[in-house]
Amino acid sequence: MFRGKSCSAEWIRSRRRDVFVTKPLRQCSRNAIGVQTASDASINGDREEHDLCNWDELKFSLIPTDYMYVMKCSSGEGAFSQGHLTRYGNVELSPSSGVLNYGQGLLEGLKAYRGDDNRIRLFRPEQNALRMQMGAERMCMPSPTAEQFVGSIKQTALANKRWVPPPGKGSLYIRPLLLGTGAILGVAPSPEYTFLAYASPVGNYFTGSMHFSVEDKVYRAIPGGTGGIKSITNYSPIYKAVTQAKAKGFTDVLFLDAATGKNIEEATACNIFVAKGNVISTPPIAGTILPGITRKTIIEVASWLGYQIEERAIPLEELMNADEAFCTGTAIAIKPVGSVTYQGQRVEYKTGEGTLSETLFRTLTGIQTGRIEDTMGWIVEID
Ligand code: COI
Repeated sequence: MFRGKSCSAEWIRSRRRDVFVTKPLRQCSRNAIGVQTASDASINGDREEHDLCNWDELKFSLIPTDYMYVMKCSSGEGAFSQGHLTRYGNVELSPSSGVLNYGQGLLEGLKAYRGDDNRIRLFRPEQNALRMQMGAERMCMPSPTAEQFVGSIKQTALANKRWVPPPGKGSLYIRPLLLGTGAILGVAPSPEYTFLAYASPVGNYFTGSMHFSVEDKVYRAIPGGTGGIKSITNYSPIYKAVTQAKAKGFTDVLFLDAATGKNIEEATACNIFVAKGNVISTPPIAGTILPGITRKTIIEVASWLGYQIEERAIPLEELMNADEAFCTGTAIAIKPVGSVTYQGQRVEYKTGEGTLSETLFRTLTGIQTGRIEDTMGWIVEID
Protein backbone atom coordinates (compact mmCIF):
# COMPACT_ATOMS: atom_id res chain seq x y z
CA MET A 1 0.00 0.00 0.00
CA PHE A 2 1.17 3.53 -0.73
CA ARG A 3 2.43 5.23 2.41
CA GLY A 4 4.76 7.90 1.04
CA LYS A 5 4.18 11.29 -0.46
CA SER A 6 2.61 11.72 -3.86
CA CYS A 7 4.88 12.42 -6.83
CA SER A 8 4.38 16.16 -6.44
CA ALA A 9 6.74 18.64 -8.06
CA GLU A 10 7.68 19.89 -4.58
CA TRP A 11 8.65 16.44 -3.37
CA ILE A 12 10.59 15.77 -6.55
CA ARG A 13 12.50 19.04 -6.13
CA SER A 14 13.33 18.13 -2.56
CA ARG A 15 14.96 14.88 -3.76
CA ARG A 16 17.02 16.56 -6.43
CA ARG A 17 20.70 16.98 -5.83
CA ASP A 18 22.94 19.02 -8.08
CA VAL A 19 25.63 16.67 -9.25
CA PHE A 20 28.30 17.31 -11.80
CA VAL A 21 29.25 14.44 -14.04
CA THR A 22 32.79 13.82 -12.97
CA LYS A 23 33.71 10.64 -11.15
CA PRO A 24 32.28 7.15 -10.74
CA LEU A 25 30.76 6.25 -7.40
CA ARG A 26 33.41 4.62 -5.27
CA GLN A 27 32.57 4.44 -1.62
CA CYS A 28 29.44 2.34 -1.78
CA SER A 29 28.51 -1.30 -1.71
CA ARG A 30 28.45 -3.08 -5.04
CA ASN A 31 26.62 -6.13 -6.29
CA ALA A 32 27.84 -8.92 -8.53
CA ILE A 33 28.10 -6.73 -11.64
CA GLY A 34 29.99 -4.00 -9.84
CA VAL A 35 27.03 -1.67 -9.63
CA GLN A 36 25.98 0.01 -6.48
CA THR A 37 22.56 -1.33 -5.64
CA ALA A 38 19.76 1.18 -5.43
CA SER A 39 18.50 -0.25 -2.16
CA ASP A 40 21.61 0.97 -0.33
CA ALA A 41 19.89 3.03 2.34
CA SER A 42 22.94 5.16 3.14
CA ILE A 43 23.05 6.52 -0.38
CA ASN A 44 19.47 6.43 -1.47
CA GLY A 45 17.44 7.14 1.60
CA ASP A 46 15.37 4.42 3.20
CA ARG A 47 12.30 4.47 1.02
CA GLU A 48 11.38 1.07 -0.36
CA GLU A 49 9.38 0.57 -3.55
CA HIS A 50 5.99 0.97 -1.94
CA ASP A 51 6.99 4.30 -0.36
CA LEU A 52 8.46 6.03 -3.37
CA CYS A 53 5.36 7.57 -4.90
CA ASN A 54 1.77 6.90 -5.71
CA TRP A 55 2.13 4.37 -8.51
CA ASP A 56 -1.54 4.79 -9.39
CA GLU A 57 -0.92 8.39 -10.47
CA LEU A 58 1.98 7.82 -12.83
CA LYS A 59 1.96 9.82 -16.04
CA PHE A 60 4.58 10.19 -18.72
CA SER A 61 6.43 12.90 -16.84
CA LEU A 62 9.83 13.07 -15.18
CA ILE A 63 10.32 11.62 -11.72
CA PRO A 64 14.04 11.82 -10.97
CA THR A 65 15.52 8.48 -9.88
CA ASP A 66 18.73 7.54 -8.08
CA TYR A 67 21.39 6.98 -10.74
CA MET A 68 22.35 7.68 -14.30
CA TYR A 69 25.04 6.17 -16.47
CA VAL A 70 27.74 8.30 -18.11
CA MET A 71 30.42 7.40 -20.61
CA LYS A 72 32.78 9.65 -22.58
CA CYS A 73 34.57 9.58 -25.89
CA SER A 74 37.28 12.19 -25.64
CA SER A 75 39.00 14.10 -28.34
CA GLY A 76 41.14 11.84 -30.54
CA GLU A 77 40.05 8.59 -28.85
CA GLY A 78 37.34 7.55 -31.30
CA ALA A 79 35.78 5.08 -28.84
CA PHE A 80 33.77 5.26 -25.65
CA SER A 81 35.35 4.07 -22.43
CA GLN A 82 35.16 4.21 -18.66
CA GLY A 83 31.38 4.19 -18.44
CA HIS A 84 30.05 4.36 -14.90
CA LEU A 85 27.00 5.00 -12.79
CA THR A 86 26.76 8.28 -10.99
CA ARG A 87 24.04 9.94 -8.95
CA TYR A 88 21.24 11.34 -11.05
CA GLY A 89 21.75 15.09 -11.35
CA ASN A 90 22.63 18.06 -13.48
CA VAL A 91 25.44 17.85 -15.98
CA GLU A 92 28.10 20.44 -16.71
CA LEU A 93 28.44 21.56 -20.33
CA SER A 94 30.60 24.05 -22.19
CA PRO A 95 28.46 26.94 -23.48
CA SER A 96 30.04 26.21 -26.85
CA SER A 97 29.35 22.47 -26.82
CA GLY A 98 28.24 21.03 -30.16
CA VAL A 99 24.92 19.89 -28.76
CA LEU A 100 23.94 23.29 -27.34
CA ASN A 101 25.01 25.27 -30.39
CA TYR A 102 24.29 23.00 -33.32
CA GLY A 103 22.01 20.26 -31.97
CA GLN A 104 24.47 17.41 -32.47
CA GLY A 105 22.64 14.81 -30.41
CA LEU A 106 20.56 11.65 -30.46
CA LEU A 107 18.06 10.20 -28.06
CA GLU A 108 16.68 6.73 -27.48
CA GLY A 109 13.89 5.37 -25.33
CA LEU A 110 13.28 1.93 -23.83
CA LYS A 111 11.50 0.50 -20.84
CA ALA A 112 12.10 -1.90 -17.96
CA TYR A 113 8.97 -3.83 -16.96
CA ARG A 114 8.25 -5.58 -13.64
CA GLY A 115 6.35 -8.82 -14.18
CA ASP A 116 3.89 -10.58 -11.87
CA ASP A 117 6.86 -12.75 -10.89
CA ASN A 118 8.68 -9.56 -9.75
CA ARG A 119 11.40 -10.10 -12.36
CA ILE A 120 12.53 -7.06 -14.32
CA ARG A 121 12.77 -7.28 -18.08
CA LEU A 122 14.08 -5.10 -20.88
CA PHE A 123 12.60 -5.43 -24.36
CA ARG A 124 14.96 -5.71 -27.36
CA PRO A 125 17.57 -3.25 -26.02
CA GLU A 126 20.06 -4.24 -28.72
CA GLN A 127 17.65 -2.73 -31.26
CA ASN A 128 18.02 0.65 -29.55
CA ALA A 129 21.79 0.20 -29.63
CA LEU A 130 21.73 -0.45 -33.37
CA ARG A 131 19.42 2.49 -34.01
CA MET A 132 21.71 4.77 -32.03
CA GLN A 133 24.68 3.55 -34.09
CA MET A 134 22.78 4.25 -37.29
CA GLY A 135 21.88 7.76 -36.10
CA ALA A 136 25.44 8.41 -34.94
CA GLU A 137 26.78 7.55 -38.35
CA ARG A 138 24.38 10.07 -39.94
CA MET A 139 25.27 12.77 -37.39
CA CYS A 140 29.07 12.27 -37.60
CA MET A 141 29.29 11.02 -34.02
CA PRO A 142 31.09 8.02 -32.53
CA SER A 143 28.70 5.65 -30.77
CA PRO A 144 28.95 3.08 -27.99
CA THR A 145 29.22 -0.55 -29.10
CA ALA A 146 26.04 -2.62 -28.76
CA GLU A 147 27.63 -4.37 -25.75
CA GLN A 148 28.44 -1.05 -24.09
CA PHE A 149 24.95 0.27 -24.82
CA VAL A 150 23.07 -2.79 -23.53
CA GLY A 151 25.40 -3.08 -20.52
CA SER A 152 24.76 0.55 -19.61
CA ILE A 153 21.00 0.08 -19.85
CA LYS A 154 21.10 -3.02 -17.64
CA GLN A 155 23.14 -1.14 -15.06
CA THR A 156 20.85 1.88 -15.16
CA ALA A 157 17.75 -0.29 -14.73
CA LEU A 158 19.31 -2.34 -11.95
CA ALA A 159 20.62 0.67 -10.05
CA ASN A 160 17.14 2.24 -10.19
CA LYS A 161 15.35 -1.03 -9.59
CA ARG A 162 13.17 0.27 -6.78
CA TRP A 163 11.71 2.78 -9.27
CA VAL A 164 10.37 0.09 -11.59
CA PRO A 165 6.62 0.33 -10.93
CA PRO A 166 4.63 -2.67 -9.67
CA PRO A 167 3.08 -4.89 -12.38
CA GLY A 168 0.28 -3.15 -14.24
CA LYS A 169 1.14 0.32 -12.91
CA GLY A 170 3.66 1.45 -15.53
CA SER A 171 7.31 0.94 -16.35
CA LEU A 172 10.73 2.45 -15.87
CA TYR A 173 11.45 4.54 -18.96
CA ILE A 174 15.16 4.70 -19.76
CA ARG A 175 16.36 7.59 -21.86
CA PRO A 176 19.81 7.15 -23.45
CA LEU A 177 21.38 10.25 -24.98
CA LEU A 178 24.40 10.66 -27.24
CA LEU A 179 25.60 14.25 -27.19
CA GLY A 180 28.34 16.32 -28.77
CA THR A 181 29.68 17.77 -25.54
CA GLY A 182 33.02 19.11 -26.73
CA ALA A 183 33.49 22.85 -27.30
CA ILE A 184 33.30 23.96 -30.91
CA LEU A 185 32.67 27.40 -32.37
CA GLY A 186 32.70 26.72 -36.11
CA VAL A 187 30.01 24.54 -37.66
CA ALA A 188 31.65 21.12 -37.39
CA PRO A 189 31.42 17.88 -35.42
CA SER A 190 32.17 18.20 -31.73
CA PRO A 191 35.63 17.13 -30.51
CA GLU A 192 34.17 15.18 -27.56
CA TYR A 193 31.03 13.10 -26.93
CA THR A 194 29.03 11.94 -23.93
CA PHE A 195 26.70 8.97 -23.72
CA LEU A 196 24.26 9.27 -20.85
CA ALA A 197 21.30 7.15 -19.71
CA TYR A 198 18.81 8.25 -17.06
CA ALA A 199 15.50 6.76 -15.96
CA SER A 200 12.06 7.75 -14.76
CA PRO A 201 9.04 5.67 -13.78
CA VAL A 202 6.22 6.40 -16.22
CA GLY A 203 2.59 5.64 -16.82
CA ASN A 204 0.61 6.17 -20.02
CA TYR A 205 1.86 8.71 -22.54
CA PHE A 206 -1.73 9.31 -23.64
CA THR A 207 -4.87 8.15 -21.93
CA GLY A 208 -7.67 6.78 -24.09
CA SER A 209 -7.49 6.76 -27.86
CA MET A 210 -5.74 9.20 -30.18
CA HIS A 211 -7.61 11.96 -31.96
CA PHE A 212 -5.51 13.28 -34.80
CA SER A 213 -5.50 16.49 -36.71
CA VAL A 214 -3.80 15.95 -40.09
CA GLU A 215 -1.13 18.62 -40.57
CA ASP A 216 -0.79 19.90 -44.13
CA LYS A 217 1.50 22.91 -43.65
CA VAL A 218 4.27 21.74 -41.35
CA TYR A 219 6.36 18.70 -42.29
CA ARG A 220 8.20 16.59 -39.77
CA ALA A 221 10.82 15.21 -42.16
CA ILE A 222 12.18 15.75 -45.66
CA PRO A 223 13.85 13.25 -47.98
CA GLY A 224 17.55 13.26 -47.19
CA GLY A 225 16.95 14.84 -43.77
CA THR A 226 17.07 13.28 -40.32
CA GLY A 227 13.49 11.97 -39.98
CA GLY A 228 14.73 8.39 -40.08
CA ILE A 229 17.00 8.71 -37.05
CA LYS A 230 16.30 9.75 -33.48
CA SER A 231 17.97 13.13 -33.70
CA ILE A 232 17.12 15.50 -30.86
CA THR A 233 16.45 18.11 -33.55
CA ASN A 234 13.39 16.25 -34.88
CA TYR A 235 11.07 17.24 -32.07
CA SER A 236 11.01 20.95 -31.22
CA PRO A 237 10.32 22.08 -34.82
CA ILE A 238 6.88 20.44 -34.56
CA TYR A 239 5.92 21.88 -31.15
CA LYS A 240 4.02 24.73 -32.75
CA ALA A 241 1.83 22.49 -34.90
CA VAL A 242 1.17 20.13 -31.99
CA THR A 243 0.43 22.97 -29.56
CA GLN A 244 -2.08 24.46 -31.99
CA ALA A 245 -3.76 21.07 -32.52
CA LYS A 246 -3.95 20.43 -28.76
CA ALA A 247 -5.53 23.85 -28.26
CA LYS A 248 -8.31 22.66 -30.58
CA GLY A 249 -8.84 19.51 -28.53
CA PHE A 250 -6.82 17.02 -30.60
CA THR A 251 -4.50 14.54 -28.93
CA ASP A 252 -1.76 14.86 -31.52
CA VAL A 253 -0.85 15.72 -35.08
CA LEU A 254 -0.46 13.30 -37.97
CA PHE A 255 2.18 14.39 -40.47
CA LEU A 256 2.11 13.92 -44.24
CA ASP A 257 5.11 13.29 -46.47
CA ALA A 258 6.89 16.47 -47.55
CA ALA A 259 7.52 15.29 -51.12
CA THR A 260 3.87 14.89 -52.22
CA GLY A 261 1.78 16.03 -49.23
CA LYS A 262 -0.49 13.04 -49.92
CA ASN A 263 0.78 10.12 -47.88
CA ILE A 264 0.64 9.66 -44.13
CA GLU A 265 3.97 9.40 -42.31
CA GLU A 266 3.85 9.40 -38.51
CA ALA A 267 2.76 11.36 -35.46
CA THR A 268 4.86 13.35 -32.97
CA ALA A 269 6.31 10.34 -31.19
CA CYS A 270 4.81 7.23 -32.77
CA ASN A 271 4.38 5.24 -35.97
CA ILE A 272 0.97 4.57 -37.50
CA PHE A 273 -0.74 1.42 -38.83
CA VAL A 274 -3.91 1.18 -40.90
CA ALA A 275 -6.09 -1.96 -40.97
CA LYS A 276 -8.62 -2.96 -43.61
CA GLY A 277 -9.94 -6.52 -43.66
CA ASN A 278 -7.01 -8.87 -43.20
CA VAL A 279 -4.42 -6.35 -44.40
CA ILE A 280 -2.39 -4.17 -42.07
CA SER A 281 -0.37 -1.40 -43.73
CA THR A 282 2.23 0.99 -42.42
CA PRO A 283 4.46 3.59 -44.11
CA PRO A 284 7.83 2.20 -45.24
CA ILE A 285 11.22 2.90 -43.70
CA ALA A 286 12.60 5.21 -46.37
CA GLY A 287 14.40 7.90 -44.39
CA THR A 288 11.46 10.07 -43.37
CA ILE A 289 9.86 8.00 -40.62
CA LEU A 290 11.43 6.60 -37.51
CA PRO A 291 12.28 2.87 -37.66
CA GLY A 292 10.30 2.14 -34.50
CA ILE A 293 11.18 -0.94 -32.47
CA THR A 294 7.54 -1.41 -31.48
CA ARG A 295 6.64 -0.94 -35.17
CA LYS A 296 9.07 -3.70 -36.15
CA THR A 297 7.75 -5.96 -33.38
CA ILE A 298 4.11 -5.43 -34.32
CA ILE A 299 4.84 -6.28 -37.95
CA GLU A 300 6.22 -9.61 -36.76
CA VAL A 301 3.48 -10.29 -34.21
CA ALA A 302 0.66 -9.40 -36.62
CA SER A 303 2.05 -11.67 -39.31
CA TRP A 304 2.17 -14.60 -36.82
CA LEU A 305 -1.47 -13.83 -36.10
CA GLY A 306 -2.22 -14.37 -39.80
CA TYR A 307 -2.49 -10.78 -41.04
CA GLN A 308 -1.03 -9.68 -44.34
CA ILE A 309 1.46 -6.88 -43.69
CA GLU A 310 2.25 -4.20 -46.23
CA GLU A 311 5.01 -1.60 -45.77
CA ARG A 312 4.25 1.00 -48.43
CA ALA A 313 3.18 4.56 -49.11
CA ILE A 314 -0.34 5.05 -47.69
CA PRO A 315 -2.47 7.82 -49.17
CA LEU A 316 -4.41 9.78 -46.57
CA GLU A 317 -7.73 8.67 -48.21
CA GLU A 318 -6.83 5.09 -47.35
CA LEU A 319 -6.56 5.99 -43.66
CA MET A 320 -9.86 7.85 -43.90
CA ASN A 321 -11.48 4.64 -45.24
CA ALA A 322 -9.80 2.15 -42.91
CA ASP A 323 -11.58 -0.25 -40.54
CA GLU A 324 -9.16 0.56 -37.76
CA ALA A 325 -5.95 2.47 -37.17
CA PHE A 326 -3.45 2.41 -34.34
CA CYS A 327 -0.12 3.89 -33.32
CA THR A 328 2.99 2.25 -31.93
CA GLY A 329 6.01 3.48 -30.01
CA THR A 330 8.04 2.66 -26.93
CA ALA A 331 6.50 5.45 -24.91
CA ILE A 332 2.90 4.85 -26.01
CA ALA A 333 3.11 1.06 -26.62
CA ILE A 334 0.02 0.59 -28.84
CA LYS A 335 -2.77 3.15 -28.91
CA PRO A 336 -5.94 2.98 -30.99
CA VAL A 337 -6.78 5.92 -33.21
CA GLY A 338 -10.23 7.18 -32.25
CA SER A 339 -10.57 9.79 -34.98
CA VAL A 340 -8.76 11.62 -37.76
CA THR A 341 -9.71 15.11 -38.89
CA TYR A 342 -8.50 16.60 -42.16
CA GLN A 343 -9.67 19.97 -43.45
CA GLY A 344 -12.84 19.79 -41.40
CA GLN A 345 -13.71 16.17 -42.30
CA ARG A 346 -13.70 13.85 -39.28
CA VAL A 347 -13.60 10.06 -39.49
CA GLU A 348 -14.06 7.82 -36.45
CA TYR A 349 -12.75 4.31 -35.90
CA LYS A 350 -13.68 1.47 -33.62
CA THR A 351 -11.60 1.18 -30.45
CA GLY A 352 -11.60 -0.97 -27.33
CA GLU A 353 -12.65 -4.60 -26.74
CA GLY A 354 -12.46 -6.91 -29.73
CA THR A 355 -10.29 -4.63 -31.87
CA LEU A 356 -7.05 -5.61 -33.52
CA SER A 357 -5.09 -3.00 -31.60
CA GLU A 358 -6.42 -4.43 -28.32
CA THR A 359 -5.24 -7.94 -29.31
CA LEU A 360 -1.84 -6.63 -30.37
CA PHE A 361 -1.53 -4.57 -27.18
CA ARG A 362 -2.25 -7.61 -24.99
CA THR A 363 0.23 -9.72 -26.92
CA LEU A 364 3.00 -7.12 -26.86
CA THR A 365 2.63 -6.24 -23.19
CA GLY A 366 2.23 -9.94 -22.35
CA ILE A 367 5.66 -10.64 -23.84
CA GLN A 368 7.21 -7.54 -22.28
CA THR A 369 6.03 -8.44 -18.80
CA GLY A 370 6.66 -12.20 -18.99
CA ARG A 371 2.97 -13.27 -19.04
CA ILE A 372 3.47 -14.61 -22.58
CA GLU A 373 6.48 -16.78 -23.32
CA ASP A 374 9.22 -14.99 -25.26
CA THR A 375 10.08 -17.42 -28.06
CA MET A 376 12.04 -14.83 -30.02
CA GLY A 377 14.80 -13.92 -27.57
CA TRP A 378 13.43 -10.39 -27.28
CA ILE A 379 13.54 -10.20 -23.49
CA VAL A 380 16.64 -9.39 -21.43
CA GLU A 381 16.12 -10.13 -17.75
CA ILE A 382 18.22 -7.92 -15.55
CA ASP A 383 18.03 -9.55 -12.15
C1 COI B 1 9.68 6.69 -27.40
O1 COI B 1 8.64 6.14 -27.76
O2 COI B 1 10.49 6.15 -26.63
C2 COI B 1 10.06 7.98 -27.88
O3 COI B 1 11.20 8.21 -28.07
C3 COI B 1 9.05 9.00 -27.96
C4 COI B 1 9.50 10.14 -27.14
C5 COI B 1 10.04 11.22 -27.98
C6 COI B 1 8.55 10.50 -26.09
